Parts: sequence; C-alpha cells; structure tokens
Amino acid sequence: MLAGCGDSLYAYASLTPGTSAPRRRTAIATEPGGHAAAITFESVVKTWPGATRPAVDHVSLTVEPGRFVVLLGPSGCGKTTLLKLVNRLYEPDGGQILIDGQTTTALPAPELRRRIGYVIQQAGLFPHYTVEANVAVVPGLLGWDKSRIRARVDDLLELVGLPPAEYRQRYPSQLSGGEQQRVGIARALAAEPPTLLMDEPFGALDAITRTRLQDELRRIHNRFGQTILFVTHDIEEAVRLADKIVVMRTGEVVQYDSPLAIVMEPADAFVADLVGADDVLRRLSLIETGSVAGPFRPGDPISPEVPAISRRSMLREALELLLERGAPQLVVIDEDANPVGTLRLSDVQTASAPLRHGDEATGADVAPVPVRPAPAR
Ligand SMILES: Nc1ncnc2c1ncn2[C@@H]1O[C@H](COP(=O)(O)OP(=O)(O)O)[C@@H](O)[C@H]1O
Ligand SMILES: [Mg+2]
Repeated sequence: MLAGCGDSLYAYASLTPGTSAPRRRTAIATEPGGHAAAITFESVVKTWPGATRPAVDHVSLTVEPGRFVVLLGPSGCGKTTLLKLVNRLYEPDGGQILIDGQTTTALPAPELRRRIGYVIQQAGLFPHYTVEANVAVVPGLLGWDKSRIRARVDDLLELVGLPPAEYRQRYPSQLSGGEQQRVGIARALAAEPPTLLMDEPFGALDAITRTRLQDELRRIHNRFGQTILFVTHDIEEAVRLADKIVVMRTGEVVQYDSPLAIVMEPADAFVADLVGADDVLRRLSLIETGSVAGPFRPGDPISPEVPAISRRSMLREALELLLERGAPQLVVIDEDANPVGTLRLSDVQTASAPLRHGDEATGADVAPVPVRPAPAR
C-alpha cells in the first residue's frame, strides 16, 4: 500500500496552479504523445449465416489518432461484432478496415492482435495464471527479457492502482471484479499498443467502482493518448468517457458526433430516445459543464463567494449549485483547480432549450420528429 500512497502524496504535493498535471516518478515505458493509430472503416459489412440482415451494415467512419471513441447502442445492434472485426476475431464479408492506412489483412491475425490491446467484460484473465503472468502474456510473446517484463508489470500495476508487492502473485479468483478489470487493463496496455479495444469492460461492476474506473481510464488516456474504441450500451458512460460517440442501430451508424452534439442535436428520434433528450433534467445530467461554459477572462471574479465547479461535472450539478447558492455565476475549474471558464444561469438555459432533432439540417428525407414544447419557465 505504501508505494501507492507515496505516489499520490507526491502527486498532490506537486500540484501548483498554472502547471500541467504532475508526472509520476515511476518510469513507464510508454511515454505521453507516443504513437496512436488511425482506424478507418470503409463500407464494412458482416452478415452472420442465416441472419436476415447484416449485423454490421456498410459502416464507414474514421477514428482519428488518439481519440477516445465510444460505440453506443442497444443490445444486439452490432457493437461487439464491429469491434471484433478490428482485431480480426471476425472477418468482414465486405469492405475493409485500415489501421494507419494499412489494411488489417496485411498482417497475420495473431501479429495484428499483439499490436491491439483488448479488454472485455469479466476481464477474461487466465484463471490459472497469477496477476503477474497475466499481465506479462504479450511482452512474453514478443520475446522481452525477464527483467524488462518484470519492471513493466510493476509499472503497469502501479498505473492501474494495484500495488505490485501486494497483487503480483495473486490469482484472478483472489481479486474483486474491479481489481480483475484493472488487471485486464494493465494486460491490454502491456506492450504499449497504439490501439485499445474495450467491450463493455465495466459492465459487471457496481456503480461506484465503475465510476472510479471510468475516471482512471480517462486519466490513462489523457496521459498516453492511445486510440481507444470502447463499447457500451450506457449513455451516461458514453458521455463521461468519449471524445466522440458512434450511435449504432441494427448494424448501421446513425450519428457520429461529440457527446454534446449527440445530446443537444440528436440526428433522429432513435438517438433522441436513447439519450432521453426530451427530458430536460436528464439532458442536463448528460452535458459537461466545461462544454458550454463561457471563457474565463482576466478580471472575472474568483473569491469564496463565487462557487467553483469542475469542468467534468454535469450541468445538472451546476444548476443545483447556482440555485442553492443564489450566485449569478460559477467559476469552472480544471483537474488542477485552475479557472478555465465561467458558467451563468443563461448558459444552462441555452442548454435546456427545446430540441431541434437535426431534421432541419438534413432536409425532407428524414421523417419529421414531434418536438415537445419547452416547459414553461
Ligand atoms: N457469433 C455469432 N454468430 C451468429 N450471430 C451472431 C454472432 N455474434 C453476434 N451475432 C448476432 O449479430 C447481431 C449483433 O450482435 P452483437 O455484435 O453481439 O451486438 P451488441 O454487441 O451490440 O449487443 C445480433 O443479432 C447477434 O445475435
Ligand atoms: Mg456486445
């Protein structure tokens, strides 16, 4: 435990306003700004034998290097199938997938998979391997020497919040669900892959553990900047994690947009329904304060009288704070407590304005969607 505590104390002590996030002391081989892959889907089709329609139906989209992209949609819409086409656990019937411009079929599938981290629900750990042996699988396949593997395993266990001295020799059955997922993430990161695929990795966890792991995954992504494709059916998880969200329905992509655009301007009634966008309070609980805050200007007040809110907090919390404190505005702060914006009641009101389901933008070929009148204020 001491190692972990020491690190977080160190991190805390080095937090000073105006500096970026503190660096950890442990030397992790993957450095920030390391290589991140671009993934391009070109008209990808997968039809299962006997199925009446494709599970993945002409999907075309590009995931830019270093982006955290979430595939969102109801059960059975083809998210897992699409993900497994990337690391060739499945092969497409049509179209192709390019990683950094090179088709995935250019390499033998096992070699491709060694370059792509993969995390699934229940972690998929080998039950008869220790934590250390589980994390060391891919470096072992890559022929790293023992001391390099051991150092890497320790660094990764630290990174995911499992003190190595305590956890290295345990077996998966001796870990909680959350700890197993942490080991799963460490294992996926072991060989510094430029791409990480994650299929509902937190689906089986309780709400608190889930939120904590979501925050830690964001932190890891902020630090290393891999390209991440993450599957979920949970809109809250999607908006918390994503730079961009791909909404899927019956094998097709219905909208590929920022979380804010998905919530504020759903492309059609299906997306609006998925988001619960007609419910103002629900919508406010899906929009990050930082995404609608105005800029922070020199001279804007900072004082104990002006309440502060994290830019990652949702607007619903900001509204509660504004009302509770009777304050005209909030200071929006980043993870290091630096002021980065201001939020007024009018900003919240703008975000709660009635929906335009995006149908005006796309024209008459989209069926009109009834728009509910805004509740009287
Ligand atoms: N191995 C498989 N064999 C046959 N059909 C499958 C297989 N895997 C998935 N499917 C079908 O493909 C569709 C999409 O499934 P899946 O990609 O698992 O959806 P999701 O991950 O969004 O819940 C479903 O209709 C499912 O029944
Ligand atoms: Mg699935």
